[in-house]
Amino acid sequence: MSIRHLIAFHDLSMPEWEEIIDLALQIEEKPEDFYGCCENKILATLFYEPSTRTQMSFQTAMLRLGGRIIGFDNPSNSSVAKGENLKDTIQVVSGYADIMAMRNPVEGSAKAATLFSGCPVINAGDGGHLHPTQTLTDLVTLKKEVGTLDGLTVGLCGDLKYGRTVHSLIQAMTHFHTKFILISTRELALPSYLKDTIRSAGCRYEEIFSLEEAIDKLDVLYMTRIQRERFPSEAEYERQKSTYVLDRKKLARAKSSLKILHPLPRVDEVLVEVDSDPRALYFKQAIYGVYARMSLILFLLRQTGRYRPFDGKEIPHERCGNPNCVTNTEGYLPHYFCNHGDMLTCEYCDERKLI
Ligand code: NCD
Repeated sequence: MSIRHLIAFHDLSMPEWEEIIDLALQIEEKPEDFYGCCENKILATLFYEPSTRTQMSFQTAMLRLGGRIIGFDNPSNSSVAKGENLKDTIQVVSGYADIMAMRNPVEGSAKAATLFSGCPVINAGDGGHLHPTQTLTDLVTLKKEVGTLDGLTVGLCGDLKYGRTVHSLIQAMTHFHTKFILISTRELALPSYLKDTIRSAGCRYEEIFSLEEAIDKLDVLYMTRIQRERFPSEAEYERQKSTYVLDRKKLARAKSSLKILHPLPRVDEVLVEVDSDPRALYFKQAIYGVYARMSLILFLLRQTGRYRPFDGKEIPHERCGNPNCVTNTEGYLPHYFCNHGDMLTCEYCDERKLI
């Protein structure tokens, strides 16, 4: 089908990412030049999970472009509450809208939606897996505020296991000779498939527990919330919470050119006293998210290319080992896996298993 979707970073080529980032910066300079560009177009926002910035910035983006919006922000107000499956919802909504942004707690659900949608699907967060439009926002922020994306030392701190913004950002930054400093507890370390992504891109990474020890080396510090809702138990969350707190004292050792990003919402990992530090960019970052999404909507609505959901092969009897994978919650989906040596990788959620 001749439509494009954005589910993971690799769905767009590097020249396409550059085009979208550059357009976002042009929009930021003179947004009024783009008002009305999406007249008569409709964006559907299907939010099965809580959201402030992502949902409202998508809606603001479409309204600023002169388009209109439909959708739900609470699935209990939709037919999902009556037991409707993802396939039926997507098939119907894609007949109403020209483009849709979906957030869902189930990993791989955005990829699954592409199988049934007649319009572009944008992944606005699928469980603890990916969140590529937050990454677009982060890239636009860095391009504007640092001037380059190339050769930066980027510290990612907090919940690297369940933090989907971190996962997508890593997929992107491996294209820019990044040195990654992964700051987390052992329990919340980065999933191994993403360490492989870093290695195979020829980038370096270091895993470290202490934020204090890492902070003076960083050009960018990406703070994240511990993702309470994704923990198997409250007790495990209690053991991990409040491990990392960025305060003025720690920042005293950081470079004066440091850029502090955070996808927000924050809980306690960045103290309010940091907000007035000129290095704290997270509120600006949330504003860049509107320009980023305006640019992405314009880009996807113009596309007529091909989208290939799967690279590997269908193995009907094989099951993904991730209980929160969409193939385990939506039983009608075909099971696709990629083969890497003695491993099978689920093409929806990237979970690996030994053959
Ligand atoms: C993030 C998300 O939803 O993954 N928020 C966002 O989209 N800006 C981060 C988070 O919830 O911690």
